[in-house]
Amino acid sequence: MQTIKTSTYSTPAKTFHWLTVLLLVIQYSIGWLMPDVHRDTQPIGLISWHLSIGALIVLLVLLRLSWRWTHPTPPEPQMLSPRLKRIARVTHWLLYFLLLAFPLMGWANASSRGWPVSLFGVLPLPPLSSKGAQLGHTLGDMHQLFAWVLIAVVALHVAAALYHHFIVKDDTLRRMLPGN
Ligand code: HEM
Ligand code: HEM
Repeated sequence: MQTIKTSTYSTPAKTFHWLTVLLLVIQYSIGWLMPDVHRDTQPIGLISWHLSIGALIVLLVLLRLSWRWTHPTPPEPQMLSPRLKRIARVTHWLLYFLLLAFPLMGWANASSRGWPVSLFGVLPLPPLSSKGAQLGHTLGDMHQLFAWVLIAVVALHVAAALYHHFIVKDDTLRRMLPGN
């Protein structure tokens, strides 16, 4: 079957994308491996890594979004129907929203526990809620729930990418892969 030629994502866009994927894999592993968090838990060891890598993900996504707003993305594959294009666009913006909202919930939870959040102990970051705030605790419960919401949306996104590559056989996945 003939493949549709499309321009690829730029190197910075690809780097942002795959760096985010890598950090998410590390962050989920730490989130599930770190000790259960109780009232007297101290933010040390794996928990401390979770806070720093989480904050790094927030900063990376902010940087990625500012970069995206100032640099055009390649045109969508021509053979996609307007409806599929809309679904792809909505999924991407949902992913960006979750990539910000979900870690910020964890951050607010850390602040409500009185845990300082910093980038690896070098750059202190502001608290997102006051110590003992009920909202921070509620957002912590939502952080646990949204971990699964993000996984569900990513699963849909990955399934769509694989569908394009193996069933439709177009360039959708290739244009996000390293190289040309
Ligand atoms: C995208 C980035 C993040 C991912 C993928 C992630 C993932 C997770 C996961 C899988 C858990 C365990 C949930 C469970 O036990 O069911 C967790 C818990 C937690 N995360 Fe995150 N997290 C992220 C960002 C952050 C950030 C930025 C902070 C704070 C600065 C944070 C603070 C916490 C805290 C305090 C808990 C324990 C919540 C509790 O048990 O009450 N997370 N996270
Ligand atoms: C781990 C979580 C992932 C997240 C959070 C994520 C997020 C995103 C986002 C936000 C975009 C939109 C880029 C833009 O135009 O601004 C995107 C594009 C893309 N992602 Fe992912 N992605 C993830 C994993 C993957 C994986 C594992 C694959 C491959 C199997 C993949 C394949 C693609 C492709 C092919 C595009 C371009 C889609 C298009 O041009 O319409 N992503 N991703």
